[in-house]
Amino acid sequence: MKALVLTAPGKIELVDVPKPVLSEGKALVRLLSVTLNRRDQWIIEGKYPHIRFGAILGSDGCGIVEEVHDEVHQPWVGQEVVINPNVNWGPNPEVQSDKYTILGMPENGTFAEYIAVPVDRLQHKPSHLDHRQAAALPLGGLTSYRALFRKGGLRAGQNVLISGFGGGVAQLAFQFALAAGANVYVNTSSETKLQKAIKLGAKGGYNYKLENTFKDLWKTKGGFDLILDSAGGEQVNAFIKILKPSGKLVFYGASAGLPKSIDLYRMFWRQLSLIGSTMGNDEEFVQMLQFVSKHKIRPQIDSIRPFSKIISAFNDIGATNRVGKIVLEM
Ligand SMILES: NC(=O)c1ccc[n+]([C@@H]2O[C@H](COP(=O)([O-])OP(=O)(O)OC[C@H]3O[C@@H](n4cnc5c(N)ncnc54)[C@H](OP(=O)(O)O)[C@@H]3O)[C@@H](O)[C@H]2O)c1
Repeated sequence: MKALVLTAPGKIELVDVPKPVLSEGKALVRLLSVTLNRRDQWIIEGKYPHIRFGAILGSDGCGIVEEVHDEVHQPWVGQEVVINPNVNWGPNPEVQSDKYTILGMPENGTFAEYIAVPVDRLQHKPSHLDHRQAAALPLGGLTSYRALFRKGGLRAGQNVLISGFGGGVAQLAFQFALAAGANVYVNTSSETKLQKAIKLGAKGGYNYKLENTFKDLWKTKGGFDLILDSAGGEQVNAFIKILKPSGKLVFYGASAGLPKSIDLYRMFWRQLSLIGSTMGNDEEFVQMLQFVSKHKIRPQIDSIRPFSKIISAFNDIGATNRVGKIVLEM
């Protein structure tokens, strides 16, 4: 079968590899669609721990169960499924175990014609989505669901700022927050994306390349209850200034690096929380899919391309006007 393999530092190749052999408790899934995440790019660039050359990349996928090892799992055969990319979250819902990894490094991932996964990683595809849309959900959906609801405690009527609206995780967070009945604001890097967010239901926003904070704070009646961000850097202090008293800044990445200092004075006096978050537990994966089904959420798709073009698709992962996921269809 064809698979996208990390063969050397910075080098990915679409190569022929043996189809996975089933072992106890596993199902063989024929992938229909997979999507790219920034994580895949970081892995190629060597910016992730535990890099294994020869591993098949990919955390997101939707497919059909073609075969199972154990008779008891036979009802899965022929079902359309999304794959939970968590590996070994462990028993504590609050935090992942030290054995935790994510599908696609070091374990073989979804960028292949077939994958063998434990049956407990399978969930039915939400019925209102096609396989291209469903493939966009796992990693980004789980990350944004936990960050918004478990860590951020978001409730209807609250003000939330989704930072970096154009990002894969942020896109889903934006849709989830709207569906939850929050007042959703964004920041992003272009006027086009800002206008797109407003068309989709944002109450306002700003371009972080031109402004360092939300100037129309009066419109929010006191600031934000919650800010979700994956960039970090100096703007963390601007976020601290626009949070309401007892507001929360939840971050799931730090792609712009560290701030030189943090305004601890304002943080303690205004009872603010700075909260880290990563992916989510298995229960949250199920809850996220239920939420998507209940609210009939359709992930934004940037483009659908043939799987044979996956290497060139990585050239567009940082494209400035991209809004939504890059899907590769088998
Ligand atoms: N902890 C976890 O479990 C977890 C899970 C998923 C992702 N992540 C991390 O989160 C980050 C985003 O992942 P992704 O898959 O969503 O990547 P992505 O689709 O490439 O999105 C990255 C987005 O970051 C935004 N951004 C860049 N500089 C910014 C800044 N200075 N201020 C605000 N936003 C900025 C941009 O938004 P605009 O396009 O709007 O300008 C860009 O689209 C990555 O670093 C990734 O490794 C962590």
